[in-house]
Amino acid sequence: MDKQTINFYNTNAKKLYHRYTSVKSMEGICIYFPIAFPNKRSKILDIGSGSGRDVLDLLKHGYDAYGVDASEQLICVSQINNPTLKERLFHSSLPKLEKITEKYDGILCSAVLMHIPKEHLFDSVYKIRELLNAGGRLLLSIPLNRSVDRETFRDEEGRLFYPYSGEYLQLLLERVGFQIIGKWINKDSLHRDLEWITMLFHYGGTDN
Ligand SMILES: C[S@@+](CC[C@H](N)C(=O)[O-])C[C@H]1O[C@@H](n2cnc3c(N)ncnc32)[C@H](O)[C@@H]1O
Repeated sequence: MDKQTINFYNTNAKKLYHRYTSVKSMEGICIYFPIAFPNKRSKILDIGSGSGRDVLDLLKHGYDAYGVDASEQLICVSQINNPTLKERLFHSSLPKLEKITEKYDGILCSAVLMHIPKEHLFDSVYKIRELLNAGGRLLLSIPLNRSVDRETFRDEEGRLFYPYSGEYLQLLLERVGFQIIGKWINKDSLHRDLEWITMLFHYGGTDN
């Protein structure tokens, strides 16, 4: 976990809750849920669940959805606004995710991996794999052109945006047993001058 990044989410939790829940359902990563997780009864974990917006959307469509986030304040604001999330959001952070002990059929990791320092990326990817059942799916997104300080990779508010490329993440995930099954380039759902790459992976299990 990158402390400066999580401080930002904790300090700005209320404002960010409203920003993230303002995303229109036709523009968010949720448009990929039916393709990514075809079985609507599957158990899904949203890593870096933020406002809880996507956990709520998944629940609405019948999935057994949970979220985990490193920002205790964001979880708190989200649960105050949505009491149904009381038992469904956990406070824990990549790469360890110590509070998460069960396995899932699907993992969502939307706009999170750029906040993971390079030295924690491999362990984070490993942890994601460990939490997936064989045959499980991983849906992730990262920004493609975020402008940050060229040396620190931090924005003006101190958040880390490590410039991982889609190709780099794909290579790493394939190296640990994932297969890419979908890839899309998207505009920013908050209408900023940004592009995102969304990727869908299948995990066949340790024998594949
Ligand atoms: C840009 S927000 C995205 C929130 C949500 N996934 C969405 O798409 O709206 C990034 C989220 O990742 C969380 N986060 C950052 N580093 C994390 C880590 N190491 N482990 C778990 N969550 C983390 C932050 O607290 C924040 O809620």
